[in-house]
Amino acid sequence: MNQMTMPAAAAPTLPDAQTVTSVRHWTDRLFSFRCSRPASLRFRSGEFVMIGLLGDNGRPLLRAYSIASPSWDDELEFYSIKVPDGPLTSRLQHIQPGEQIILRPKPVGTLVHDALTDGRRLWMFATGTGIAPFASLIRDPETYERFDDVILTHTCRDVAELEYGRALVEGVRTDKMLGELLEGRQERLRYYPTTTREESPKMGRITDLLRAGEVQRELGIERIEPGTDRAMICGSMGLNTDLKEILEGYGLREGANSDPADYVLEKAFVGDGI
Ligand SMILES: Cc1cc2nc3c(=O)[nH]c(=O)nc-3n(C[C@H](O)[C@H](O)[C@H](O)COP(=O)(O)OP(=O)(O)OC[C@H]3O[C@@H](n4cnc5c(N)ncnc54)[C@H](O)[C@@H]3O)c2cc1C
Ligand SMILES: NC(=O)c1ccc[n+]([C@@H]2O[C@H](COP(=O)([O-])OP(=O)(O)OC[C@H]3O[C@@H](n4cnc5c(N)ncnc54)[C@H](OP(=O)(O)O)[C@@H]3O)[C@@H](O)[C@H]2O)c1
Repeated sequence: MNQMTMPAAAAPTLPDAQTVTSVRHWTDRLFSFRCSRPASLRFRSGEFVMIGLLGDNGRPLLRAYSIASPSWDDELEFYSIKVPDGPLTSRLQHIQPGEQIILRPKPVGTLVHDALTDGRRLWMFATGTGIAPFASLIRDPETYERFDDVILTHTCRDVAELEYGRALVEGVRTDKMLGELLEGRQERLRYYPTTTREESPKMGRITDLLRAGEVQRELGIERIEPGTDRAMICGSMGLNTDLKEILEGYGLREGANSDPADYVLEKAFVGDGI
């Protein structure tokens, strides 16, 4: 993918330290970065970990972050908001290749294949930075081994906020190894981006577009039902609550690691917003 890279070099000095290898700024609110991966870290695509920096008081300042890279990747990737006064991201947004972050190697989460029963079609519904776990899952072979049809929807306020996801999908389709996952059928991974504030080819909240049957019509899907459809949701509290109601209206049942079912959800952040 289109990333500036440099080899992981500096020896760790912090506890659980990893070295940043590349950074890319997508907008004045969004950036992504890659870092070294501890040799012992095993995770399932879609999980999150705690990452951070050392605070002024000398103690780790940690926040939950979805791992945006797939489980087979040698490095880890994260996709981050920049909260102007945010304790962590007001500093993390200035991180440079060669510098270190703290990474607690205890991955957890519900947006994982293990929490879903088998189906034919997998929906991934994201808003904002909620696309991060799906950046991992759409690069994981298991996603295409388990599902014939994968649909990633991403809703943001502005067009520029869609760019990370657009580039990601293009990367999967054009990368030789990842493209093979689609077995020559690009339509196995469909991408449905929408904006709500800035003019774009497709406007509207995904919830409204689903309720109106517009998404289904445009993608040629007769109905969403428990027999065929599985879903993963990652967005704000409001999005998660609204989509949960919509999916349950279609008869889908919420799953968990301990009780796999038809759909799973996770908050992309805690709170009402910036
Ligand atoms: C399970 C989980 C996974 C997460 N994964 C990611 C991720 O992959 N990328 C990421 O950028 N953040 C993610 N977050 C949010 C992250 O943990 C931090 O809240 C974020 O990095 C901001 O940290 P902060 O200390 O700067 O500000 P905080 O004090 O944590 O937050 C300040 C304010 O910003 C809002 N806010 C926080 N994060 C976001 C966001 N991502 N989008 C929009 N508004 C936000 C909050 O509602 C809060 O009001 C995740 C949160 C959870 C619970
Ligand atoms: N994005 C920006 O340009 C911007 C700039 C400065 C500050 N902020 C602040 O940053 C915080 C987070 O912003 P964000 O844009 O990352 O996340 P967000 O507010 O969760 O919005 C992301 C996308 O999700 C949609 N959405 C929100 N609630 C929904 C629901 N219940 N059902 C369906 N769709 C829903 C939004 O549509 P709607 O537009 O219809 O809400 C938007 O397109 C907010 O508090 C915001 O005030 C954002």
